[in-house]
Amino acid sequence: MGTVYGIDIGTSNFKMCCKDKEQILNEKNIIAIANKKDLLAFGDEAYEMYEKAPENIEVSFPVKYGVIADIENMQTLLLQFYNKINNDKKSAANTDFYIAVPTDVTEVEKRAFYELVADSKVKAKNIYIVDKPVADAIGAGLDVTKSRGIMIVNIGAETTEISVLSLGGIVISKSVKIGGNKLDDCIISHIRKVYNLVIGSKTAESLKKEIGSAIKCDEKFAPGFGRNVLSGLPVSVDISSDVVYQAIIDPLHSIMDSIKVILERTPPELAADIIKNGIYVSGGTSNINNLEAFISGETNLKVNVVENPSESVVRGLMGVVSNPDFEGIAYTPQDKVYD
Ligand SMILES: Nc1ncnc2c1ncn2[C@@H]1O[C@H](COP(=O)(O)OP(=O)(O)OP(=O)(O)O)[C@@H](O)[C@H]1O
Ligand SMILES: [Mg+2]
Repeated sequence: MGTVYGIDIGTSNFKMCCKDKEQILNEKNIIAIANKKDLLAFGDEAYEMYEKAPENIEVSFPVKYGVIADIENMQTLLLQFYNKINNDKKSAANTDFYIAVPTDVTEVEKRAFYELVADSKVKAKNIYIVDKPVADAIGAGLDVTKSRGIMIVNIGAETTEISVLSLGGIVISKSVKIGGNKLDDCIISHIRKVYNLVIGSKTAESLKKEIGSAIKCDEKFAPGFGRNVLSGLPVSVDISSDVVYQAIIDPLHSIMDSIKVILERTPPELAADIIKNGIYVSGGTSNINNLEAFISGETNLKVNVVENPSESVVRGLMGVVSNPDFEGIAYTPQDKVYD
């Protein structure tokens, strides 16, 4: 048997793993191109250049809102990450790929993930698709094949996918275009209003991680480096956690509203299972402080934040590969007519 790879192509992070290898590659899904043609850097190294590069260097994310927007650059990135995970060694000829694909998108957008790998230089023998929420739940350690309702909410960088699963399939799934990037944008605009301070998205993201919280807590401060709107000069300001909280609470409530809509639409027997087991939350943004308390306060349900939540989907792909119980969960576009 050849090598088997799993990939979860996210808006912010590209995750890839290889069967029989422990480690997961998780790097920024970003590319830096110089003079419109030369590959300068990819992944985390390219992210270092983001918002810092001169005009002849273009640093861009090829995935937008969970779907592939720039196929050419995504092809390049796939090959670079593939070579990196193999330490630039040529790998065996018969390799299989398992790709996690979002559910609440068009058929064309789904197919683009399959074609990305099929048309690439990685030379796949077989390519399988796994619905993202199903992989996510397997990565969370859940047996998705039982006739038991599972609610999984993946809060990523630009999307939040809310799904109810049972018997290995998706009962309902809805994707909303809100995630960690939206929180960062709200932090940027609120800090500008409160402190007359213009900050970049990396600073906003680190403030979110450091002092952001989904419920109001004791006030803390962290330095925010930026430019004063009035003087035009670079300054460092002590940013209050209350200001960050005020900035992110609206988008968090929007996510909450969508979770409630899905709960309302969940058939009662499956809802009973969700009451028993609680809601599972994954995706990088579920790392935000006190998210558990926020969601359980709003829904009166138990909330389980998945371990290493950003990598839960890709872990689940390896679960599909290694556990015979999950046979049938992976499919090819020929097996299934999308609706
Ligand atoms: N400790 C943390 N606190 C808050 N947010 C965090 C933390 N760590 C990571 N994040 C956020 O998680 C997001 C990335 O998560 P993830 O890797 O799941 O996204 P993605 O899969 O690339 O995006 P999508 O699923 O929307 O396509 C970023 O917005 C990042 O700021
Ligand atoms: Mg994701």
